[in-house]
Amino acid sequence: MRLEGKRTLVTGAASGFGKGIAETYIREGAKVAVVDLNEEGAKAVARELGENAIAVTCDVSKGDQVQAAVDATVEAFGGLDIVVNNAGWTNPNSPLMETDEETFRKIYDINVVSIFHMTKVCVPLWRKSGGGVMLNIGSTAGIRPRPGLTWYNSSKGAVNLMSRSLAVELAPDNIRVNCIAPVMGATALLEQFMGVPDTPENREKFIATIPMGRMSQPRDIANAALYLGSDEADFITGVVLEVDGGRTV
Ligand SMILES: NC(=O)c1ccc[n+]([C@@H]2O[C@H](COP(=O)([O-])OP(=O)(O)OC[C@H]3O[C@@H](n4cnc5c(N)ncnc54)[C@H](O)[C@@H]3O)[C@@H](O)[C@H]2O)c1
Repeated sequence: MRLEGKRTLVTGAASGFGKGIAETYIREGAKVAVVDLNEEGAKAVARELGENAIAVTCDVSKGDQVQAAVDATVEAFGGLDIVVNNAGWTNPNSPLMETDEETFRKIYDINVVSIFHMTKVCVPLWRKSGGGVMLNIGSTAGIRPRPGLTWYNSSKGAVNLMSRSLAVELAPDNIRVNCIAPVMGATALLEQFMGVPDTPENREKFIATIPMGRMSQPRDIANAALYLGSDEADFITGVVLEVDGGRTV
């Protein structure tokens, strides 16, 4: 029960890493707001998680919707201790010149602007309550980029650095900000990263670049999010923790 009594909000929790984080947080005694654009998916996950979970439909790229999601969480749980900015998106792996401006902006809106909105909503709340924890899901893509994902890679570079900068500026407020940088994992986004189609041969090509010889799994990311979210990590801020089987070494 390493998160007993913690009131948490996880974005993009209807699937993949976010769902894994939500499951782990519930198991460890937290209350979890399952926040996602996918209304049905969020409701299904919240139902699975039981009475300590609520589902909230929200497009994290829209400031008013982020405000409403945080308000709904505070109303349901009586406060908010940990926020995990996990929702993310990329266009399929493709040459950089083929991406149009609308797609570029969508990548940044979902991956980067979302954290701006969440920060604007949570910091006043946490300044009043005496502190809080933000975890951002960055990526090894922002540390050791692969070709074909330039705009996504750069958005995750922004997430990685933004986390460190938020950490240093918000430390006096007892607000910890850390980042988790996963290597490629078998989630709904996998085919977008590798390029279509998802074949065993195509996967092998990517796995060959990971020293520990496998992709990441939701439990790997969830275990890192458990530690960084818990009070065991109460002197840890500004870290970009690679969960990558050695990919970025
Ligand atoms: N899978 C990987 O290989 C990998 C590697 C490194 C980092 N990441 C990052 O991990 C995070 C989770 O991705 P995943 O791999 O679990 O993919 P996923 O597609 O399974 O999950 C992403 C979730 O985010 C939700 N979402 C998308 N746009 C949203 C929006 N505007 N508002 C609210 N919710 C929205 C989706 O509905 C989905 O439930 C992302 O930030 C991704 O960039 C993934």
